[in-house]
Amino acid sequence: MKVKIAKNAGFCFGVKRAMKMAWDEVEQHSDNIYALGPIIHNKQAVSKYEEKGLKTVEEIENIPSQNHMIIRSHGVSEEIYTTAKNKDINVVDTTCPFVKKIHYIVRDNYNQGYNIIVIGDKNHPEVIGINGWCNNSAIIIKNIEDLNSIELDSSYKYCVVAQTTINLDLYKNIVEQLSLKLNDIIFNNTICSATKVRQEAAKELSNEVDCMIVVGGKHSSNTQKLVQICKEYVPTFAIETCDELAIEDLKSYSLIGLTAGASTPDWIIKEVIDFVESL
Ligand code: F3S
Repeated sequence: MKVKIAKNAGFCFGVKRAMKMAWDEVEQHSDNIYALGPIIHNKQAVSKYEEKGLKTVEEIENIPSQNHMIIRSHGVSEEIYTTAKNKDINVVDTTCPFVKKIHYIVRDNYNQGYNIIVIGDKNHPEVIGINGWCNNSAIIIKNIEDLNSIELDSSYKYCVVAQTTINLDLYKNIVEQLSLKLNDIIFNNTICSATKVRQEAAKELSNEVDCMIVVGGKHSSNTQKLVQICKEYVPTFAIETCDELAIEDLKSYSLIGLTAGASTPDWIIKEVIDFVESL
């Protein structure tokens, strides 16, 4: 039985950077360090950091002053930085630089009188954070249908940004519609290619192997998207850890492909590879 790994699998640049920065800080301040929201959507990885001393809270109000706070790669609103400063909390900012760039585009254009439009999911932490750089005034568009229910005024100026992980075709369709409705509008394609690249690699590999294993959280949307893509081509096993793999499931395959969601740590991927290769 042979395992072939997708060209791009697991942590993207931003998550890898954030997890490394967070680990270094947890090692230094294990008694008084907090994460504002789960550091990553992977419960095995979160447990590893929590065993080391990291405490996860949902609200900054739950972090005592003079402690350390990790901001995860999704980023947060401007208000969180102000509150941290007022409470004398040391900020460990692991916001992905691509997300940070969106914050500055939004802040600068908002200050110049532009109305901000975010193409993305209003409940996603990244979008909640972005909206917090224009006083929570952004118009958030998730799909083409939303365009029918939002109020736009062609005498106003608009500035558009995108959640980094949205689909490019969706972005293009919405941009086209907005261009028809509005005169003074700036578009910023802030989509990050990491998601697309990982999906293309999964598709390519699915065409070469007998079955696919997709490693990642059951609640991780990018992992579930990879599962969906692979299933179109070959039998696909979606697992969080190698404990969920049964020898029976795999014994009829000789070449097995493997990919992993953006929040799956390397050590979990390695465990799965070792397990399959040992069969
Ligand atoms: Fe950053 Fe792109 Fe990953 S925005 S967190 S490198 S998906």
